[in-house]
Amino acid sequence: MVSPSLIAAEFTCLERVVQQVSGADWLHLDVMDAHFVPNLTFGPLGVRAVRKLTRQPLDVHLMMTHPHHYLRAFQEAGADWLTVHVESQAPFPRVLEEIRTLGMRSGIALNPETPVERVLPLLPYVDLVLVMSVHPGFSGQSFIPEVLQKVREFRAYRESHHTQFLISIDGGINQDTASLAVRAGVDVLVAGSYVFQDAQPAERVRALQQLFSLNP
Ligand code: DX5
Ligand code: ZN
Repeated sequence: MVSPSLIAAEFTCLERVVQQVSGADWLHLDVMDAHFVPNLTFGPLGVRAVRKLTRQPLDVHLMMTHPHHYLRAFQEAGADWLTVHVESQAPFPRVLEEIRTLGMRSGIALNPETPVERVLPLLPYVDLVLVMSVHPGFSGQSFIPEVLQKVREFRAYRESHHTQFLISIDGGINQDTASLAVRAGVDVLVAGSYVFQDAQPAERVRALQQLFSLNP
């Protein structure tokens, strides 16, 4: 699946942006609080605006120190998947249980330097693991190839434990790095600048989607 990251798009006409990627499986929305990361984007209001424009699943990535205070606000805004960082100050695993209780799918994200072991005890509580392949905060950074090993480890864990969570990768995804990520075992590719810094975002989404059929 492909989840285009809207922060890399031109925000003056959100409706056009959403139409351009209507063939995508999900839409990825990056919420940044200027504390967990140096950048500041949007909150539930931004999610709600996108919700009104599409029925595609909204994959909301909270780069926030205190995401647990905003779960209901994002649910009411229309989030389908809500991902919090393991490095945040959220109370684990309770925050993940609350996300599910509110009717959303729960995700856990980990930064490039965070080891897989930190997330393993939380896997029974999540529907998605988001492996960061750049340091969170900005789109347009270069892919960190060392994180592919974590994708392989999560994949191996999922197979040996017969669990169900999806594995997503976020940051620096282009045709080459996406191919590496798909071969390592990801289920979801988040891509910002690669999709939107092209005159044909729909084509880029399709090209990324095709990688999954080339590497079943
Ligand atoms: C980074 C964000 C990413 C980012 C991806 O903090 O979580 O979703 O927008 O953008 P690219 O694909 O340009 O790295
Ligand atoms: Zn993201």
